[in-house]
Amino acid sequence: MEKLLIAAVLGAVIGLAPASSALAHEPGTYESPIVEQRVKRFKQSGGDIQAIFKKHLGAGNFAAIQDAAARMAAWGDDMPDAFPAGSNSIGADKAIWKNFSDFEAKAQVFGDAARALKAAAASGDAGATKKAAQMVGASCKSCHESYRIKH
Ligand code: HEC
Repeated sequence: MEKLLIAAVLGAVIGLAPASSALAHEPGTYESPIVEQRVKRFKQSGGDIQAIFKKHLGAGNFAAIQDAAARMAAWGDDMPDAFPAGSNSIGADKAIWKNFSDFEAKAQVFGDAARALKAAAASGDAGATKKAAQMVGASCKSCHESYRIKH
């Protein structure tokens, strides 16, 4: 049950399924430097959340989880600035710029979830850390459902 849930979260968020991951931005296909920059940080988050579930939680590596959570929290803070008006891309739904305050709110929920994950990891409580990591995953998914175009 727990394994299934984690697989579902990872699958939905990171697109572990070959069909969706093959169709994300490929190197050299970025619309502009700012799109390249933000995709790099999304990919970093994808790698971080995957490593948390597949490696760090099992190994009890709370220091690595704190590092990953800090990176994601900073990205949550910076994310709205990475989507200036007109920075269209194949992955970004135009609804972002119609509902920018809602997009910002979702970035904030993500940043706050990452901060909560960092705190949970700092406490060394494995159960609380896993729950907090699932909340981060849910915050990725919630934004993607509204604002990311999957190819
Ligand atoms: C507030 C909204 C929001 C949040 C939160 C968010 N994302 Fe995204 N994500 C997007 C948007 C929009 C794109 C498309 C960006 C583009 O293509 O210009 C995207 C793209 C991606 C991509 C694909 C990049 C590519 O083109 O190869 C990955 C991977 C990704 N996100 C992972 C994550 C993970 C993992 C999390 C949480 C840890 C997360 N995202 C949280 C909105 C969000």
